[in-house]
Amino acid sequence: MSLIINDLYVNEFVSGDELNLFRREVDLHRDQIYKKEGKGNDFLGWVDLPGKVDHALLTRIESDAAELREHSEVAVLVGIGGSYLGTRAVCEALSTNPFPANETEEKQIQLVYAGHHLDQDYLHNLLDWLKNKSFSIIVISKSGTTTEPAIAFRLLRELLERKLGKDQAAKRIIAVTDASKGALKTLADAEDYKSYVIPDDVGGRYSVLTPVGLLPIAVAGHNIRELVQGAVSMAELLREKDQLTENPAAHYAVIRNILYSKGKTTEILATYNPSLTFFIEWWKQLFGESEGKGGKGIFPAGVTFTTDLHSMGQYIQDGHKNFFETTITIGKDRHEVIIPEDENDLEGLNYLAGKSVGFVNEMASRGTMLAHVDGDVPNLEIILPEITPYHIGGLIYFFEMACAISGYILDVNPFDQPGVEDYKKNMFALLGKPGFEQETKAIKKRL
Ligand code: PA5
Repeated sequence: MSLIINDLYVNEFVSGDELNLFRREVDLHRDQIYKKEGKGNDFLGWVDLPGKVDHALLTRIESDAAELREHSEVAVLVGIGGSYLGTRAVCEALSTNPFPANETEEKQIQLVYAGHHLDQDYLHNLLDWLKNKSFSIIVISKSGTTTEPAIAFRLLRELLERKLGKDQAAKRIIAVTDASKGALKTLADAEDYKSYVIPDDVGGRYSVLTPVGLLPIAVAGHNIRELVQGAVSMAELLREKDQLTENPAAHYAVIRNILYSKGKTTEILATYNPSLTFFIEWWKQLFGESEGKGGKGIFPAGVTFTTDLHSMGQYIQDGHKNFFETTITIGKDRHEVIIPEDENDLEGLNYLAGKSVGFVNEMASRGTMLAHVDGDVPNLEIILPEITPYHIGGLIYFFEMACAISGYILDVNPFDQPGVEDYKKNMFALLGKPGFEQETKAIKKRL
């Protein structure tokens, strides 16, 4: 597994001496992570998870995915947050062709999403569209009680049961949930749905390499064995490399914390590959939910260049400088598109004739990083050889480990999310949920 951290464009902001000051602390945190002794240590199951994903589980997932693909035109993934973002990040990264020439090339089954927000127009349109499709449902919720997926699942289940009858519908539903508790577990048992378990010691945002991600990713037709193998290779590399600058996760974690201590309180993750836009959404949840607590944390933001150079580019170059940028560079694209010569050359592009669009994208990226550094924006670069299941698996594990180390440096528990409960309490009070009567009274006074 090769993933390189290029710190050339942060060197003028972070000195070698500053990095060295973190050596002992990083050793300590890595030790805490591997020995499961740090904060939130009951949620460190993801650390050795890739190596523990066994052949039997993968075979079962592949077989259920194949069956579902055979019987359905559409699979609806119902889930939110950690029960949704990882799948979407991987599937969008690996979707090689958004314009397939024929059904067999790419779109044997269409994976669509529900339960990731409360927009009723979206739900109306989805339910309407599904009326004339053969579809299956993968419902994912660790707690089994999250409002958004629970509502979407109730509506989708009802539609499926109306179309197929209760017994046949049950064969088109797969639940991924807790091993022993929660409403979804109870329902899955009662209705005899196929089900998969989310390990107790793996939190939502670290769960993409469990059935939470592996099942829908396999349903979408991607190679989950390579995905897991990439994570295994990255896990081995990160465990082996005990020198700070040789360990990409530790190196990244330390640089971002040094920059944070210098007032760079926002990190912008940038990609020049639009297929990684949703990967950035996954990364935002991973770091935002892990680090933003106790009045601390680097705010994770994202941009897709060069598109956003024509919108956010101005602010990044010239605006208030409380951020740094991390750019994910992909070594090799899947295809090459050569710019043709034009007889009239009215737009003056002939100087690029014979060059690839990828070359132009690369020069845009180099030029941007240098310009941003000149504009007082430190720029860290993460170089990944290519976008394949193997490399995406590695990138996922890299960020998970970096996030854990970074959270420990920040002295927070990177594995809990107490803050997400506050809005739920208000929402339940406003909705009049039984058990929230006191909160309802209190909140009504504020309206
Ligand atoms: O990372 C997390 O823990 C959260 O984002 C959850 O994944 C999200 O709230 C969904 O929870 P659940 O899987 O219990 O429905």
